[in-house]
Amino acid sequence: MVRRALSAALAVAAFSATALASIKCGPGNNCPADTPCCSQYGDCGVGAFCLGGCDPLFSHKMDSCVPNPTCKSADYKLKTLDDVMSIDKYLGDASTINWQSQGKPVIYNDALLLTMAEGTVGTLLASTHYVWYGKICAKMTTSQGRGVVTAFIMMSDVKDEIDFEFIGVDIVNAQSNYYSQGVTVYTNEKNLTVGNTVEKVHEYCIDWKPDELHWIIDNKDMRTVKRSDTWNKTSNRFDYPQTPARIMLSLWPAGLPSNEKGTIDWAGGVIDWNSQYMQNGYYYAMVSEVTVECYDPPSGAQVNGKKSYKYTDKAGTNNTIKITDDEVILSSFYATGENPKEGASSVSSGAKPTKSVETVPGGLSGGGNRGEDASSAVSGAAATATASGAAASASAGGGQNFEQGGGNKGAGTSLEPGLGKMSGSALAVVVAVLGLLVL
Ligand SMILES: *[C@@H]1O[C@H](CO)[C@@H](O)[C@H](O)[C@H]1NC(C)=O
Ligand SMILES: *[C@@H]1O[C@H](CO)[C@@H](O)[C@H](O)[C@H]1NC(C)=O
Ligand SMILES: *[C@@H]1O[C@H](CO)[C@@H](O)[C@H](O)[C@H]1NC(C)=O
Repeated sequence: MVRRALSAALAVAAFSATALASIKCGPGNNCPADTPCCSQYGDCGVGAFCLGGCDPLFSHKMDSCVPNPTCKSADYKLKTLDDVMSIDKYLGDASTINWQSQGKPVIYNDALLLTMAEGTVGTLLASTHYVWYGKICAKMTTSQGRGVVTAFIMMSDVKDEIDFEFIGVDIVNAQSNYYSQGVTVYTNEKNLTVGNTVEKVHEYCIDWKPDELHWIIDNKDMRTVKRSDTWNKTSNRFDYPQTPARIMLSLWPAGLPSNEKGTIDWAGGVIDWNSQYMQNGYYYAMVSEVTVECYDPPSGAQVNGKKSYKYTDKAGTNNTIKITDDEVILSSFYATGENPKEGASSVSSGAKPTKSVETVPGGLSGGGNRGEDASSAVSGAAATATASGAAASASAGGGQNFEQGGGNKGAGTSLEPGLGKMSGSALAVVVAVLGLLVL
């Protein structure tokens, strides 16, 4: 089976100047014991690598990844960043926070902006809870311009995916798509006519049932895929999204010159960083509300609790998911699903860091596998955490006001403490000095 990297944003060259040569993971290539968790970008690490997006199929063991918090029905009004935590702070307690972010979310006019300034790979918001079938809706507007992609997707840890993607050169259509276990079949794509995605808030819904998947826009059912129509004789299974998935909203730069040509072409060309569509120094997409209605677990599901979804088998199919009461909250960014208490107390005296590991995966999930090769996935170094596990300085930001129309070009950079150019980005990988594991 061919698995490709998650998105074009992975190929961001900026991140390749890394302090750590990251260890790759993928088919036939599981992570080693000391960096056991395979991130959604195909790199091995500890800490945040073992949380959302951790791929159990390519991690060191099935339990290297932390179990996925179960679905929670909710109506999220994204008027503040109170419920959003930067990925380099989140240790897995989904009972206290519903969203984690990479990049720079900003609050403006009672809604959340996903921003993308020059030199960054945009912003990703991902739910801490997973959904195993449900109706998920987002009220949003998209960004505009060549190479700029806005996305609202569902993505599972084994890369089942359901997408709404909006390319910045086509503000009339939403592109709907789905993938099974990361196998890229572009012919699944269908354009759904919306009207104007930039100026008008529309409600986009993914109605995902075990047997049927619907893309709904403004209450209009625009597309249906039936599981029964997705049988794949080669792989001997349904190529139908069937594993617990996170909700992801993102704005990402498909049109970076360092990306593959196919990706850049798909997105309408190379990004213009002096575009009329930028405000305050960044491109932006707006999300005002996300609603989640969880459906009951599928009939026949292995139910042994209600708190988390766990994979029990490398097949990564629907029947290998078990609902359990196992909950894992990491004690530090050195911890993993196998060793959740690692780094719980502060550094032992005299501990000498002897090894560096990556603790926060980089890159950005834009969704829409666009033919990247996993080996081009990014990894980089932004900040050096101390041995006590302190994370990088980059944060989800303090909600500075976005001055629509008022800002000068480039003002955006001043809004980005610790998140300026490539080197300081929260999207980059945080490097921690690992002393504890080897004592
Ligand atoms: C069926 O699965 C194989 C192996 O994963 C994949 O290469 C192929 O593209 C799939 N076929 C279709 C029609 O989706
Ligand atoms: C969808 O629209 C885009 C841009 O307008 C176009 O390039 C693409 O070929 C369309 N896809 C399909 C399946 O028609
Ligand atoms: C998994 O999918 C199969 C079809 O491939 C279906 O028959 C079965 O009921 C499903 N099981 C669960 C637990 O969803």
